[in-house]
Amino acid sequence: MKALVLSGGAGTRLRPFSYSMPKQLIPIANKPVLEHVVANIRDLGVREIGIIVGEWGPQIAAVLGDGSRLGCEITYIRQDQPLGLAHCVSLARDFLGDDDFVMYLGDNMLPQGITDIAHDFQANRPAAQVVVYKVADPRAFGVAELEPGGAVRRLVEKPPEFVSDLALIGVYFLTPAIHEAVAAIAPSARGELEITDAIQWLVARGDPVRASEYGGYWKDTGNVDDVLDCNRELLDGLIPAVDGELDDAELIGPVVVEAGARVVRSRIVGPAIIGAGTLVEDSYVGPATSIGRDCVLRATHIDHSIALDGAHIAEVKELHGSLIGRAATVGGASGTAAHRLVIGDHTRIVVAA
Ligand code: G1P
Repeated sequence: MKALVLSGGAGTRLRPFSYSMPKQLIPIANKPVLEHVVANIRDLGVREIGIIVGEWGPQIAAVLGDGSRLGCEITYIRQDQPLGLAHCVSLARDFLGDDDFVMYLGDNMLPQGITDIAHDFQANRPAAQVVVYKVADPRAFGVAELEPGGAVRRLVEKPPEFVSDLALIGVYFLTPAIHEAVAAIAPSARGELEITDAIQWLVARGDPVRASEYGGYWKDTGNVDDVLDCNRELLDGLIPAVDGELDDAELIGPVVVEAGARVVRSRIVGPAIIGAGTLVEDSYVGPATSIGRDCVLRATHIDHSIALDGAHIAEVKELHGSLIGRAATVGGASGTAAHRLVIGDHTRIVVAA
């Protein structure tokens, strides 16, 4: 089996981050989403991974390289325009050959893994096996209508009227039958070749298509709240480790202090990670917080947040639910009475009353 990871997409819901980086490289528990995705795929015993990239291809390649660091072989496949998930399958036709493959949306996090579903697919080998998850509002998704027992009766992409609350999430197990389906379908109303339509084409032809309901934690990390929630979920299982330096520091609960980090006159209540080379001084870092590499936190209280590499935060008394970009500076100076903001396009700031 091979894997096809889709990492194009504009990431408009993650502005301003997506102006300067692909959303798939946002760190969750100090590791880019795509590295979590690759790790999940590698856990299936899959080594050959094709990654569909758009204009951020070079940045993604700079982080993942040829895959050897992650125990796999990565082939980058360029998509110039976002013409749909099924279009990605046709772009990857040569890479995929006649192998079965798992297609995985590169911003989806399933920290408990997908090995059970992969085994089920390999044991029964239907033409396609989709992964579904019950959602409160299925309008933003492709949805699946199922027979009792898990066979798919019908798949519909973003139905205006209620069809089912079982949303298709970003993982699809496919056999080469999908190539015929992709060649047969026409673009949808939004001008994209939909993988939902391609799999529905298989259903209509009478091919066996199955669905597995995912029982673990799942998030599409497409917006800030979901990124923070996912970070909280991943940190939940954090194994404490202190490789950095502590000087008058109090660590409570699972805390990771990476090599070269320094925690001085501060209290850290885990689960929390302090990245390599970061300085935390006279501060409080609370649960569900990941601080990246080479950051500086001075006289600051922060919890339930992520700071990306090189962020500089000083004298901020309560930071909560925040996502702070690379090399961003947040902070006051003693005696300053007014807020002063120098912020990028589409930035969102909530100032405490
Ligand atoms: C795509 C698929 C949709 C699926 C969703 C999962 O939607 O078309 O069927 O439910 O991913 O995230 P899009 O994000 O392109 O709107």
